[in-house]
Amino acid sequence: MKKMGMPIIFLFLLLILSSNAVSRVDEEAQKEGQDHVHKPITNYGSETMWDMEEDEWQMVGKKGNQFVVNGQPFYINGFNTYWLMMFAADDSTRGKVTEVFKQASSLGMTVCRTWAFNDGQWRALQKSPSVYDEEVFKALDFVVSEAKKYKIRLILSLANNWEAYGGKAQYVKWGKDAGLNLTSDDDFYTHSTLRSYYKSHVKTVLNRVNTFTNITYKEDPTIFAWELMNEPRCNSDPTGDKLQDWIQEMAFHVNKIDPKHLVEIGLEGFYGPSTPQRLQFNPNTYAQQVGTDFIRNHQVLGVDFASVHMYADSWVSPQIADTHISFVKSWMDAHIEDAEKYLGMPVVFSEFGVSSKDPGYNSTYRDTLISTVYSAVLNSTKKGGSGAGSLLWQVFPEGTDNMDDGYAIVFSKSPSTSSIVTLQSTRLALFNSVCSTRCNWSCKKKKMLEKILYHDEL
Ligand SMILES: *[C@@H]1O[C@H](CO)[C@@H](O)[C@H](O)[C@H]1NC(C)=O
Ligand SMILES: *[C@@H]1O[C@H](CO)[C@@H](O)[C@H](O)[C@H]1NC(C)=O
Ligand SMILES: *[C@@H]1O[C@H](CO)[C@@H](O)[C@H](O)[C@H]1NC(C)=O
Ligand SMILES: *[C@@H]1O[C@H](CO)[C@@H](O)[C@H](O)[C@H]1NC(C)=O
Ligand SMILES: *[C@@H]1O[C@H](CO)[C@@H](O)[C@H](O)[C@H]1NC(C)=O
Repeated sequence: MKKMGMPIIFLFLLLILSSNAVSRVDEEAQKEGQDHVHKPITNYGSETMWDMEEDEWQMVGKKGNQFVVNGQPFYINGFNTYWLMMFAADDSTRGKVTEVFKQASSLGMTVCRTWAFNDGQWRALQKSPSVYDEEVFKALDFVVSEAKKYKIRLILSLANNWEAYGGKAQYVKWGKDAGLNLTSDDDFYTHSTLRSYYKSHVKTVLNRVNTFTNITYKEDPTIFAWELMNEPRCNSDPTGDKLQDWIQEMAFHVNKIDPKHLVEIGLEGFYGPSTPQRLQFNPNTYAQQVGTDFIRNHQVLGVDFASVHMYADSWVSPQIADTHISFVKSWMDAHIEDAEKYLGMPVVFSEFGVSSKDPGYNSTYRDTLISTVYSAVLNSTKKGGSGAGSLLWQVFPEGTDNMDDGYAIVFSKSPSTSSIVTLQSTRLALFNSVCSTRCNWSCKKKKMLEKILYHDEL
């Protein structure tokens, strides 16, 4: 890897592109007019090459199966750090939020997924239904404003399937405290009162005015997307009907309050009863019984892109094995194909990683896993496909070891991983900056891009 090579190639490209960009703009803008551009509607006609290079912080939108921003594709190299709000809520740990954004952005990462919920727990955001801790809300404000400083966009998740930070169990507990006759945590999805609690939380977060920036969350381009829930499952109904109904109502609810931002569900990606021919791709037979149904769920109106998680170590076998890598490849290929053929939307591999506590683990294996995922994303990018990016689980700054469940990646301690991440960021950034969405992927630039992206010229 020749680090110094990048800016020179980039300048060279800029020169070539700027010389013919202007003449192409009108022609391509005309073609563009025929395509339907989803939120937001961008004014393609007035752009020039130089405008695109400008630092405009616009809302991320979607065109067909790709993300777009400033009239260019937006392929993602990003990460998860779920505890940012909690750390920002205390002066003694707030600096870690800045640190993680700073490190990730120095490696070229552009998207972070984090929690915009903490229900009824220690340092809760929502102390009880519709009752908020203003100090914790200010902490979330800080996270959003700090992300922007480092040019990182956020996927904000709005609730948890699991008990950490409250989750559906906490909503059920609140319901019981209010005298409701609830028998299962899955009543979260079906009971009208619990639905109204959740909807009220969504409304409060989306309408929040950031105390650092004065920008309302629902107007803030720093927010890349809303996620309905982290890893929703509804084991009490393997048909998937209960969860489907909940997704329909909640996707509509989010869109009604905030028509500008993209919305995703937060699913892990298991195939369900609606697609018996796809069940073979599931990691195990249990996966089809958890009440989720990848294709059907993502066909809901108002869901803009698909999410997929990948944990061979907890789904296939705890012992690290070559089969984990082949599982990851086929899991990714299957979902990219779904997103292209059946869904017509981008798919983000929004959680993947490996625990250092797994038997057979070593850091070489982790690098192999990450490289495999990045390669599959690039292969899709190359075709203008639906594979829109990936988010590592999970990036920690130094000195947060007490939070590590084994999956933490500390860049300063992992030079080889950092190099892999940087290379992926560089490739995607180059691709994003060179390819206008007006550019049909077969345009002249493509050959040049392929050379750069696939023959290690960086
Ligand atoms: C609570 O709901 C369960 C299941 O729906 C039902 O069997 C039970 O009779 C209900 N209990 C009361 C006190 O209403
Ligand atoms: C936010 O608005 C308040 C009240 O209008 C104003 O005093 C403050 O300077 C504004 N802050 C920013 C960062 O714009
Ligand atoms: C690392 O782990 C993988 C998978 O368990 C194994 O195949 C490989 O031999 C290990 N490499 C080293 C250097 O220990
Ligand atoms: C990406 O494509 C290359 C070339 O076809 C192939 O060798 C590689 O295995 C692919 N990567 C993945 C992860 O499928
Ligand atoms: C893109 O280019 C291909 C090959 O030249 C052509 O078949 C296709 O119609 C073009 N698509 C658009 C949207 O212009």
